[in-house]
Amino acid sequence: MATQHDDVMAESASTDRSAEVDAMAASAKSYVPDDSVVEAAHIKDYDAFRRAANEDIEAFWAEQAQALEWYAPWEQLLDRSDAPFYKWFVGGKTNIVLNALDRHQKTATRNKLAFVWEGENGDRRTLSYFALDREVDRFANVLRSLGVRKGDTVTIYMGRVLELPIAMLACAKIGAIHSVVYGGFSAQALADRIADAKSKMLITQDGAWLRGKTVDLKDIADEAAEKSPFVQTMIVYQRTGQAVTMQAARDYWWHDLMALPIAIGDSGTAVMEAEDPLFILYTSGTTGKPKGLIHTHGGYQLYISNTLKHVFDLKEEDRWWCAADPGWITGHSYIVYGPLILGATSFMYEGAPNYPYPNRWWQLVENYGINILYTAPTAIRGLMRYGDAWPSRHDLSTLRLLGSVGEPINPEAWRWYRDVIGRGKLPIMDTWWQTETGGFMITPVPAQTLKPGSATKPYAGIIADVVDEEGESVAANEDGYLVIKEPWPGMARTIWGDPDRYVSQYWEKYRDKGYYLTGDAARKDEEGFFWIIGRTDDVIKVSGYRLGTAEIESALVSHDAVAESACIGVPDELRGNVIHAYVILRDGYEGSESLVKRLKQHVREEMGPIAVPAEIEIVESLPKTRSGKIMRRLLKAQVMGQPLGDTSTLQD
Ligand code: WT7
Repeated sequence: MATQHDDVMAESASTDRSAEVDAMAASAKSYVPDDSVVEAAHIKDYDAFRRAANEDIEAFWAEQAQALEWYAPWEQLLDRSDAPFYKWFVGGKTNIVLNALDRHQKTATRNKLAFVWEGENGDRRTLSYFALDREVDRFANVLRSLGVRKGDTVTIYMGRVLELPIAMLACAKIGAIHSVVYGGFSAQALADRIADAKSKMLITQDGAWLRGKTVDLKDIADEAAEKSPFVQTMIVYQRTGQAVTMQAARDYWWHDLMALPIAIGDSGTAVMEAEDPLFILYTSGTTGKPKGLIHTHGGYQLYISNTLKHVFDLKEEDRWWCAADPGWITGHSYIVYGPLILGATSFMYEGAPNYPYPNRWWQLVENYGINILYTAPTAIRGLMRYGDAWPSRHDLSTLRLLGSVGEPINPEAWRWYRDVIGRGKLPIMDTWWQTETGGFMITPVPAQTLKPGSATKPYAGIIADVVDEEGESVAANEDGYLVIKEPWPGMARTIWGDPDRYVSQYWEKYRDKGYYLTGDAARKDEEGFFWIIGRTDDVIKVSGYRLGTAEIESALVSHDAVAESACIGVPDELRGNVIHAYVILRDGYEGSESLVKRLKQHVREEMGPIAVPAEIEIVESLPKTRSGKIMRRLLKAQVMGQPLGDTSTLQD
């Protein structure tokens, strides 16, 4: 049994995962890669590659950056003078679009497919690098003519359609900052993000297909625009053809604008400073408000293309499928920008994995000859549930590598993924990273030994460690805080409009040492393999989605009936965790089944379906410390039927 630092684990309550890791690490069988895999890999001696990188991180990144085009070279690779506000490639002039699109127009890549797409309803579409560039040019012209300027923010609220990357790239091209809001978020959540980013422009679509029904994105966007006074212009892409209301002088159809003469012609890529912001992406943290993390044109483009090339060993002929949503960091980095910079062919699918039948994904792999599949444990578990017969009806032999992201992958799912989808032999790249890190941080590469359940080791140039409260490395197999000790080019630069929060959230705890606090607990074994335990803060991963307990609690408290609330994550076989909420009612309200239903509906409206608690329990009181802090750990122990542990700080 691993020793646990009480302080690390006190409120994190991830003891089940800790026990799971005990079992996994103890029985860990190492999977040594086949010679053929090593032979084919971009980097054959990865240990040497990493060692050299870590010896001189700056020299490593300077060398790797040669793979990219720059309008003007940087004067200083890394400026530490204003730490933790690190600056990379200072003085360098670039634009991520220069590398993602422009430079491919000069080579045979212009004739290669950038995207292959299938709609849930069977619609199909492809875009070559040339055609994608044309679309982006046109849309960039449209944005400019509607008054969008360098440095303006544009909110994008769409489903998985190719117009989403087109819109993102067009923003980047003209130097506007995109803020993509996941299409599963509610009107309120969208309105909050529009207001925080102060976007005057909102890009959406009429509806998106999901499980044979439409998600009415335009209706939700209308509601959000009403709640948020900023939106002056809305561009609507027509996907489903469903009826929507178009508000005169505010709303325009995408196809109408793209057909105008102003859309024609090369729009010109804006020359950006390496450190200029590329996008804002909101994610959940410990406190109520979601934080808008900022990523830049310069360091980000290097980090994501470099990690993608080496971790998934992308080859000229590959068909790459990252099955995430472009609305999350995984999609930004590894559906949109990373693959395009590498000149790869990406597949995108609009709908649900099990629609109309649970073989949909496997049919797509077969039909499109997918070589690399990258998805989340929750999706694997979901499809595993339907049994082996569904995938076994399909020819999955084109697959040569598999990937996992978003939460720890449990041994059962790992084995099924490898045995049933990976023909009993494909390597699984379990990549640990975060919205904040921009790209993969702790991850295997194909030519490296794997241990199921471990994300293996830090990427080249990434100095990660597991430390105690004081920042000292803990012994092998002890749990502690996962930290990153040196800056890396893909790191988020700040929180939009709230630099103080950036410092307090990520850098304050180990200020003297200058370590980045990830918010995860982890363990390192004798061989230096990292095992991720889970979050140490009040962030819960539900089906791989990141939710803050504080956000759900404030959504509940915003209902008239609720005086106080506490939410916890409870382990769930399919979804990793589910939310259990405890609420104290205001005077005059009676607990009932219908009230619980209404509260769930309320959370759905405030945040979206992903945040709806699996259980809402109405209680008389909540366990609190004498200083008034809710002891979520006790609520959790009670649900799990575990001992309550130390209750000496409990109020009564
Ligand atoms: C949190 C970050 C990075 C893209 C998607 C998630 C958890 C992520 C793994 C993994 C164990 C993982 C961590 C992390 N996480 N990948 N391979 N193994 N845990 O990004 O929404 O910012 O969430 O996801 O807890 O801190 P995110």
